[in-house]
Amino acid sequence: METNLKKKRVFSGIQPTGQIHIGNYVGALSLWVENQDQYDNIFCIVDLHSLTIPEKVKPDYLRRKVKEAAALYLACGIDPDKSTIFIQSQVTQHAELAWLLNCVTPMGWLERMTQFKSKAESLETVGTGLFDYPVLMAADILLYKTDYVPVGEDQKQHIEITRDIAQRFNHMYGEVFKIPEELMRKSGARIMGFDDPESKMSKSIGEVKKRHSIGLLDPPDTVKDTIMKATTDSNRELRFEYASPGVKNMLVLYEALTGKSREEIEKHFENSNYGTLKKELIDVVVETLKPIQARFEEIIREETYLNNILKEGRERATEIAGDTLDIVKRSMGLSL
Ligand code: AMP
Ligand code: TRP
Repeated sequence: METNLKKKRVFSGIQPTGQIHIGNYVGALSLWVENQDQYDNIFCIVDLHSLTIPEKVKPDYLRRKVKEAAALYLACGIDPDKSTIFIQSQVTQHAELAWLLNCVTPMGWLERMTQFKSKAESLETVGTGLFDYPVLMAADILLYKTDYVPVGEDQKQHIEITRDIAQRFNHMYGEVFKIPEELMRKSGARIMGFDDPESKMSKSIGEVKKRHSIGLLDPPDTVKDTIMKATTDSNRELRFEYASPGVKNMLVLYEALTGKSREEIEKHFENSNYGTLKKELIDVVVETLKPIQARFEEIIREETYLNNILKEGRERATEIAGDTLDIVKRSMGLSL
């Protein structure tokens, strides 16, 4: 693949473990696909991040999920002719840069991370890797001289700390890193759980709890069951501004998946009840997932095709990451 120097670079990633869901699609994957022609894109399957809660990740499970995530990227419309797709652990520079960045990152910055605090709360043993997770993420982004990082809202704080780490490094060792920015949807950057619209739809909860999320590989019956039983209220409020959290969440999903304006949607549902919204949302979700699932089934069977894409991705990523890491090491006084 030729690198177009004029295009700005995009980098993003998803952890392969858990159930990749409609929130990941709306907040991240569909945004990657939408902007694919405009940028030089690098998309990573961040398997090293999946190890930060090792109790949840058995080796066979991880192997299977990495492949599934790669196939899902492609099935959602990531085009290997336009985007580089690779597996984080296959490009060793990520772990190496993370160490170097560790040495310039104050612990206090990491102690403030809200995602760390909420994940750590539910764990008996908190690994050092979980604490250090944002530094590895900063390494991912900074290795590729990234301009934009398309993510959901929950990652905003991690992009901010990436900028802080890059700036601190540049201050200490010279202008080495480009300062990245997040790219986020105005609406749809935080899809909530269908069962509990007060909390974010989550991959790990989705894997163990029914009716919390809709996985990209869920069959129509599951989609129907989840949406029909989604939390609502006893009002009949179908306007974005006034709707209760559960109804608002469905309206936002409908908005993101149809591309219609809020005005159009409110007019469309003007004299409807929640049942109508739910039925129409089921149709929209099922129609969105149908082509993704068909393509996924094809790709997952074509092992050589998938492996070749990941091999090419690894080669291109290694080249770029290797160049950056050399500059970083030299600037710190390390010999090459
Ligand atoms: P993760 O599931 O944490 O690996 O997230 C992968 C990508 O999906 C990141 O860009 C997240 O910000 C995004 N994402 C995760 N959960 C949601 C959600 N509930 N709504 C919107 N985006 C999300
Ligand atoms: N932390 C991100 C998440 O859980 C995944 C991730 C790791 C990422 N490295 C990244 C996202 C680099 C964007 C850029 O969603």
